Amino acid sequence: PKVVVLMGGPSAEREVSLSTGRECAAALRDQGYQVVEVDAGPDLAQQLADAAPDVVFNALHGRWGEDGCVQGILEWMHIPYTHSGVLASALAMDKERTKQVYRAAGLPVVESVLASKADVMARHVLPPPYVVKPYNEGSSVGVYLVDDAASSPPQLSDEMPDIVMVETFAPGREMTTTVMGDKALTVTDIITDGWYDYDAKYKEGGSRHVVPAEIPQEIFDACMSYAVRAHDALGCRGVSRTDFRWDEARGFDGLILLETNTQPGMTPTSLSPEQADVTGMSFGELCRWMVEDASC
Ligand code: DAL
Ligand code: MG
Repeated sequence: PKVVVLMGGPSAEREVSLSTGRECAAALRDQGYQVVEVDAGPDLAQQLADAAPDVVFNALHGRWGEDGCVQGILEWMHIPYTHSGVLASALAMDKERTKQVYRAAGLPVVESVLASKADVMARHVLPPPYVVKPYNEGSSVGVYLVDDAASSPPQLSDEMPDIVMVETFAPGREMTTTVMGDKALTVTDIITDGWYDYDAKYKEGGSRHVVPAEIPQEIFDACMSYAVRAHDALGCRGVSRTDFRWDEARGFDGLILLETNTQPGMTPTSLSPEQADVTGMSFGELCRWMVEDASC
C-alpha cells in the first residue's frame, strides 16, 4: 500500500512534526510500504489528490493538523488516516473543553479558566501560583508560570492568542501514559532539572525518562486506567498519550490529568515510541500498527 506521511504544516510545532514525520516515513519504508512525504500546505486537498494514497499517516502536530481540520479534509476525501477523528481531535486540542470531558468522566483535573489576554496581563485571574498557556497548542509553546502573589501579572508575547487559559499550578512529577487501541502501554516518569519545556522535550539529554515509572503501584495503576478512560471519553482512536502531574506529598489525591495528545510525538526523544519499545514493540512495528489501524 501507498502511504502519505503528512508532516510540517503551519503550526507552532512545525519542526517537531517534521522530525516525527521523517522518523515515521523511514520506519514505514523499512516495513516495506511505498511512502511519500508531504509537507502540508494550503493546497493540501490538491496535494492529496495528486499523491493518491491508500492511507495517510498523519504526523502533523498542533493546530490544523491535530485539531480536526486535516481530519475533516481526509474524511471528505474518503482517505483512511491514522490517529483520532474530527471530534476527538478538536476536543483534545482544546485544553479547556478537554477538562469538561474529563470532569464528566470523573477524572481529576485542576481548576482553570479562559480569560482575555488583556485581563491576564492586568491582574491575577486566579490566585498564584498559576500557569498561563494557549488553550490550543502543544509542546509547551507559550507557557508562563506565575509563582506567587508578589510577582506581577505576566506580559504575554504578541504570538499568544487573544484568549488564553489560566490554570492553577499543579506541582509534582510529570508522568505520561500512551494508549494504543484499548490498552495503556506503561507509565513514564519524566525527570528534568527545571520545567519540562520545549528544550527539555526535544534536546538530546534535555530530560531523563524512567520507564516503567518507579512509583507506588496504586499511582501506576491509576495512570494506566485514567489514560484509557480519557482516550475513551474523548472518543480517541489509534494511539493517544495522556499527561499527568503527581504531587507525591498529597498521595493519591495529588494525581491529576493535564491533557490528552491525539498525535503524540514520534521524534527521537519522544515518549510514546519509548513506551512501545519497553512493552516489546519496535518503532517500525508501532508505525505499522498505526497504518493498519487507520480508518475514515
Ligand atoms: N505535542 C507533542 C508533539 C507531543 O505531545 O508529543
Ligand atoms: Mg500537548
